[in-house]
Amino acid sequence: MKPAVTLSRLIVAVLSLWGLGVSAGLFSRLPKSHSGTSMDLVHKREHYRLKTKEAFYHGLGSYLKHAYPKDELKSLSCSGEDTLGNFTLTLIDSLDTAAVIGDMDLFLDLIHLSQNVTFDQNVTVSVFETNIRIIGGLLSAHVIAATHPDTWDKYNHGLLGLVVDLADRLLPAFKTPTGLPYGSINLKYGIHPEESTLVCTACAGTFSLEFTWISILTGLPVYEEVARKATKALYDRRSTLGLYGNHIDVITGAWAYKECSIGGGVDSYYEYLLKTWIAFADENEYHEMFVEAYRAVKMHMKRGLWNIDVMMDNGVPIHERFHSLGAFWPGLKALAGDLSEAMDELDAISQILAYSPFLAEMTNIQTFEPAGDRHQYPLRPELIESIWMLHRATGDSELLELGFEMFDRIEKFTRVECGFANIENVNEAAQGDKMESFFLAETLKYFYLLFDHESPFNSENFVFNTEAHPFLTLPTSYRPRSLFQAWADPFTYSAWESKGYDPTKPTAYRGIQHDHVVVGFAHGVCLKSDWTEAREKKVKAWRSRNPSRS
Ligand SMILES: *[C@@H]1O[C@H](CO)[C@@H](O)[C@H](O)[C@H]1NC(C)=O
Ligand SMILES: *[C@@H]1O[C@H](CO)[C@@H](O)[C@H](O)[C@H]1NC(C)=O
Ligand SMILES: *[C@@H]1O[C@H](CO)[C@@H](O)[C@H](O)[C@H]1NC(C)=O
Repeated sequence: MKPAVTLSRLIVAVLSLWGLGVSAGLFSRLPKSHSGTSMDLVHKREHYRLKTKEAFYHGLGSYLKHAYPKDELKSLSCSGEDTLGNFTLTLIDSLDTAAVIGDMDLFLDLIHLSQNVTFDQNVTVSVFETNIRIIGGLLSAHVIAATHPDTWDKYNHGLLGLVVDLADRLLPAFKTPTGLPYGSINLKYGIHPEESTLVCTACAGTFSLEFTWISILTGLPVYEEVARKATKALYDRRSTLGLYGNHIDVITGAWAYKECSIGGGVDSYYEYLLKTWIAFADENEYHEMFVEAYRAVKMHMKRGLWNIDVMMDNGVPIHERFHSLGAFWPGLKALAGDLSEAMDELDAISQILAYSPFLAEMTNIQTFEPAGDRHQYPLRPELIESIWMLHRATGDSELLELGFEMFDRIEKFTRVECGFANIENVNEAAQGDKMESFFLAETLKYFYLLFDHESPFNSENFVFNTEAHPFLTLPTSYRPRSLFQAWADPFTYSAWESKGYDPTKPTAYRGIQHDHVVVGFAHGVCLKSDWTEAREKKVKAWRSRNPSRS
């Protein structure tokens, strides 16, 4: 494995191309009293950790000041707009970033503010985006707030009701002959009679992390079941090569677009197959599906260091372009244990940064020029996500240096008075009037975690959804109990007892029992046998009340 050498050469190249002024000034302000590179690196890391925290405050503060309660911030015109569903998207997407940067007071304040949202609105939303951003954001904040030693006794569990309310509004999308969900739904009126029957692969196969968690917390299996059914519906329609197209018909189950990619339209389907297996007890079915899907990508899409788009039926290449969304792939490879290839592929992608300050939406991998008119950089997280993941896996300090450089470019080219601006054209570093919610939810979170080695979120206790919302992993037979001491401070059952909390009587919310797992975490571990037994009982009871579903 030789990627470090190329990376360091690359860093020299990019420093002289783009970042010299900023970096030189910055380095000269760093403490000089320590000798030895590793100590310098520790100080530099701390310096960037604080800078990232400050950037989060700047972005969030600008959103709250100029855009809230709209979905997203228009960072040049200093105003807001509803983009996804009129449901304070950026606020909800940012909740757990406040916890990740360790500001638990802010975290609780933001939770309080987000409880003002209502989903009973005549708006048509993307089922996929609403799941990964809103359900993912609320669910992750709920579990963190209910278990973290600094918040559990101050948090009123009010987010869970919002999660269930919203998930119930998405459920009708899954009522199709195939089990594949419609792409969009009206939160108040359900599926429109003229709704398109085409859905993208990722849009149908990215529910299992969130929906399984909702089933665990509510004791109602329906959420987990629809997510599993949709995933299997895709899996069963893979080509003989084991590949997937980009869009499929939810009524007929026929592929409408047969282009196979690891980027836009398919990406998080692969991600959730692996992460669902990692996150939940003994989900071997997901593991088998992942292994088969991953094998097919390696066999039919990998060309040298790149994974190119091919036709799903015969593996014929479509074009040699790199989607910026595909930059998450080295991180996924690392998670799958394929570390050496992951480093090589990340190295290849990172070389684009010697030609351009950011990854364009699409890059021609022969010329490293943006492909066609896909020259935007909307503040996306996927590259820093992979860098974070690989730095965690290898401890490679060159990756850290690359992270410093990328952060400097964000500050230099995108920071404006009212937040951070997307880039319309990477060649000209031309700014656009938008700060996507994923900038605070994902991009800054991954930078922060790269720079904060002590964060409890950097442990194996968490798996991140595709919008970077951290979910606690559940114990399995192969994962030792000690890993479930998720937080640094001991957090014990006796703390709950002293508050008069009786774990044998889960609190009821809207008639739904939801606290079993949270109680499990209060023990410092969610005992698998308890959990399974209680859950099976609930499943049985639920099935007997709903015989048609069993
Ligand atoms: C958006 O939400 C606000 C506050 O909840 C509400 O007053 C407004 O009518 C909503 N807009 C739409 C289009 O539903
Ligand atoms: C909550 O919503 C109500 C009604 O839309 C609004 O009047 C109020 O200002 C909101 N509260 C906060 C803290 O945003
Ligand atoms: C819902 O919103 C759509 C689009 O804004 C509008 O055409 C329709 O009349 C609304 N429906 C109801 C029942 O208000």
